Amino acid sequence: MKLLVIFCSGIFFCSATFPHQDEALTKSMERGKVIYAENCITCHMGAGEGVAGAFPPLAKADYLVKTPEKAIAAIKFGLSEKITVNGVAYEGMMPNPGLDNEEIADVMNYIQNSWGNTSNKKLVTAKMVEEVKPKK
Ligand code: HEC
Repeated sequence: MKLLVIFCSGIFFCSATFPHQDEALTKSMERGKVIYAENCITCHMGAGEGVAGAFPPLAKADYLVKTPEKAIAAIKFGLSEKITVNGVAYEGMMPNPGLDNEEIADVMNYIQNSWGNTSNKKLVTAKMVEEVKPKK
């Protein structure tokens, strides 16, 4: 009996929470796709492949996948320091795209879940973006 209750509440919990999370992620990715096309695609390209030697890739990029908070900082403040992405050094200049926290969350959700990348359904929220501060 006890097991049955645990099992049933498990099903209830899953069906009650996860579709909601999925839907929020899907909606955010849809908005992020538009933001990407308007603000990022010229440098990082349509499949997130970047341009060898000039613009780092976002598709399967260890920088983005392993240190999402650094990726958020790059999108929030721009980036011009030496970084290594998938073993290749870049010392370019990414201008601050001038997006608000909500837009940054949407574009993060898009790039983290496109071209073979996955955030394992984890959602980036505007609040998480707000908490990312510039490096002193
Ligand atoms: C003018 C070209 C340009 C535009 C537009 C641009 N970036 Fe970048 N981006 C760069 C360059 C150059 C770097 C590397 C900077 C460095 O070497 O310090 C970079 C680095 C990054 C990184 C960290 C490195 C990586 O590959 O994971 C992320 C994430 C990123 N950009 C995402 C975006 C997103 C999202 C947008 C749109 C909102 C965007 N960029 C718009 C040129 C650009």
